[in-house]
Amino acid sequence: MNKRAEAGVMQAGLEASAFWMPYTANRQFKKSPRLLARAEGMYYWTADGRQVLDGQAGLWCVNAGHCRPKIVEAVRKQVAEMDFAPTFNMGHPIAFEFADRLAEVAPDGFSRVFFTNSGSESADTALKIALAYHRVRGEGQRFRLIGRERGYHGVNFGGMAVGGIAANRKMFGPGVAGVDHIRHTHDLARNAFSKGQPAHGAEFADELERLCAFHDPSTIAAVIVEPVAGSAGVLVPPKGYLQRLREICTRHGILLIFDEVITGFGRLGHPFASQRFGVAPDLFTVAKGMTNGTVPMGAVFASDSIYDAFMQGPEGIELFHGYTYSGHPLACAAGIGTLDTYAEEGLLTRGASLEAAFESAIHALKGAPHVIDVRNIGLMAAVELEPRPGKPGARAYEAFLKCFEAGVLVRYTGDILAFSPPLIAEKAQIERIFETVAAALKTVD
Ligand SMILES: Cc1ncc(COP(=O)(O)O)c(C=O)c1O
Repeated sequence: MNKRAEAGVMQAGLEASAFWMPYTANRQFKKSPRLLARAEGMYYWTADGRQVLDGQAGLWCVNAGHCRPKIVEAVRKQVAEMDFAPTFNMGHPIAFEFADRLAEVAPDGFSRVFFTNSGSESADTALKIALAYHRVRGEGQRFRLIGRERGYHGVNFGGMAVGGIAANRKMFGPGVAGVDHIRHTHDLARNAFSKGQPAHGAEFADELERLCAFHDPSTIAAVIVEPVAGSAGVLVPPKGYLQRLREICTRHGILLIFDEVITGFGRLGHPFASQRFGVAPDLFTVAKGMTNGTVPMGAVFASDSIYDAFMQGPEGIELFHGYTYSGHPLACAAGIGTLDTYAEEGLLTRGASLEAAFESAIHALKGAPHVIDVRNIGLMAAVELEPRPGKPGARAYEAFLKCFEAGVLVRYTGDILAFSPPLIAEKAQIERIFETVAAALKTVD
């Protein structure tokens, strides 16, 4: 065990720690911390040496499993060779190499990559590219951005504005002007216990037509959605829904942005969700699995026609946007090691061969205490629990704790347990995840 972690365990608690933890009940956590100290393959080890099966790929990101040798070695080599170099008016070969490698795995027609450092930055970058794209084409009146209820596009102002999870928005003022939302696609009454895409709800896309009529479609720049909403609890798009969104956007000259921060890099059994659903966006965002979570990085993929539109204008900087760390050498090295690992092990499509086993393992939870829905697609899934009266979220939190005590890491959001194991998972490990959940639910009131 590493010395700092050891020190953490030996400490009576972390109540006085300087670390203001993100998306965490700090006081509650610091009284009884859960510390992860080491990781390899499908497992973490806690600071006190317990092995924990990772049912969540870290935080939807460690798609190839932990501490994979090619990635570790690539980062080690790069940090010793060149730690940092700017990409504003300068370049370094590895950034160009990684962008070209990404374009090779991207869906046809997406040969341009803008580097960011996170999913949140990718969302904001995509929204800005959409606004600027219309402007360079002489349609600067398109300023509106449309998101969706229960959508998550990170925590920066643009992503927060188009995002649709109330708790993420309510403390932070009026946000960005000109934003509206279509309704979410969750419909338990008609779709509970669906396997794969639910049958009902394609018509929810028609809300976009309603907003077009209301605002005048020529004022709308872009619509952004996650192909499968992840953070709000794995909301799988109804059959035909994404196709309809695409049609409406095309009809009105609105750009369609897919936020593939979770669904990108093999989560749905295809490299990208757009390939699984057969619906092409105009821009899409990635992060997480792009570097297997090893070094923070994100990107926006732009269709060729969008990039080309920027390259028609006067000489000079075409897009006044970028981050100090766009194309950071360590992140690029991690990304190349990640793509090599994905390619060697066929991980970008491995989910397709595991999906049936994953589906039947999770649907075995139908009938378990408190379970009101089970849903899945690719290697992402959720179990929704009936909230305990007057205490929303308490049941899922307790189930999460019990699973962790039993050696399985899952995620919870509200009263939903979410699952996204690394794409290297074996069938027996998948079964263990859901058997642990079943046992945990029996002990939760
Ligand atoms: C769909 C989606 N977009 C954006 C983000 C934000 O990514 P980050 O936390 O890297 O900023 C997330 C994070 O979970 C996400 O799931």
